Amino acid sequence: MKFIRDFNFEHKRVLVRVDFNVPLWLGKNGDIDNEEDWRIEATLPTINYLLEQKAKIILIAHFGRPNGKIVENLRLDLVKKRLEKLLARPVIKLNDCIGEEVEKQIGNMQAGDIVLLENIRFYPEEKNNDSDFAKQLADLGEIYVNDAFGTSHRAHASIIGLPKYLPNCAGLLLEKEIKFLSKILEKTEHPLVVIVGGAKISTKIKFIKNFLDKADNLLLAGALANTIISAKGFNIGKSVTEEEMIEETKKLDLDNPKLHAPVDVAVSVDSSGKTSSRISLISNVKKDEMILDIGPDTIKLFTRIISQAKMVVWNGPMGLLEVEKFSLGSREIAHAIAKNPGFSTVGGGDTVAFLEELGLLDKITHISTGGGAMLKFLAGEKLPGIEALE
Ligand code: ADP
Ligand code: 3PG
Ligand code: MG
Repeated sequence: MKFIRDFNFEHKRVLVRVDFNVPLWLGKNGDIDNEEDWRIEATLPTINYLLEQKAKIILIAHFGRPNGKIVENLRLDLVKKRLEKLLARPVIKLNDCIGEEVEKQIGNMQAGDIVLLENIRFYPEEKNNDSDFAKQLADLGEIYVNDAFGTSHRAHASIIGLPKYLPNCAGLLLEKEIKFLSKILEKTEHPLVVIVGGAKISTKIKFIKNFLDKADNLLLAGALANTIISAKGFNIGKSVTEEEMIEETKKLDLDNPKLHAPVDVAVSVDSSGKTSSRISLISNVKKDEMILDIGPDTIKLFTRIISQAKMVVWNGPMGLLEVEKFSLGSREIAHAIAKNPGFSTVGGGDTVAFLEELGLLDKITHISTGGGAMLKFLAGEKLPGIEALE
């Protein structure tokens, strides 16, 4: 693989894939603030390096999951505003990623200019890794830099399609993540405790399987644990789940003593946080209720296991942390990890933003910009985006 030191970027149009997928719970004050911008900050070394090298920088990014359609509130204007502030220089944000207008604007670029293309996921071709789309993007630049570690587990056009058409290399952030996470892989300390929460079991089930071998304890919570609770035969009411994943989940060794799912949960009839909630055993969730956080016994169990760990890996919230009432489980887990003097690594857009909000970032050994990407890497799997680089 090549690195950015291997190229001369002077006056070159450089396509840089970045991960600016800041948490979707913005809007607290209508702007991206310093609790939410850490993924943008993490790419500054590469952007600044390219500026020093007098490159013409064209940034490619995604935001949320618009499913191949234009979604107005998933445009990158707020990201542009924050980036301008962090760089203290103007960024030209375009309203599209390909086409005549984009070509015209890029044709006018001077060395040191920065263009941010619109949310690449407005095109279904991105996710489908459409080769014509990748070619059209490639025609905009002369060199491709992947600095989007957090998206490198996705076999998308801007991640694996683009490097087929252009000389390419890893950016400084991607390089740093690979170096750091490789160290963890090579020097695993035990007990290793892996905590996986968050939204979807479908994206994380492979890592859960892998870590069942590698880790000494695997703590599962969040919406993805709902599918596990359901696969165990309990009623989960109206909880967020992926029903189509139940059969697959049943194939996990759910009775493995290393695997810990919630034993009690916080439930409510809706997720607003405005209606009353209660703590329930997982065997006692009612038809009209939703599981929204882990309960006190689960917190006790998890924090005890964490306190004994030599190495902790965490990705994904324990509950619906956007609603303060249901962020208690995540908060307790975050503090337990922060208190543990051993080695810790935490990744994931929502998880890291939450740690930042709690002011605990400096208590964690390594903050990774990857969520799914970090888990996949640490499970020893190859990331398509890294494989795709020369
Ligand atoms: P990360 O961004 O840290 O990788 P994910 O994107 O996988 O984490 O998951 C974060 C999302 O999961 C958050 O929006 C959170 O509200 C949601 N979530 C976690 N637990 C629940 C739950 N019990 N019900 C609904 N949503 C949940
Ligand atoms: C992330 O937030 O983990 C990355 O930006 C990838 O986003 P995705 O899970 O929507 O593909
Ligand atoms: Mg997320």
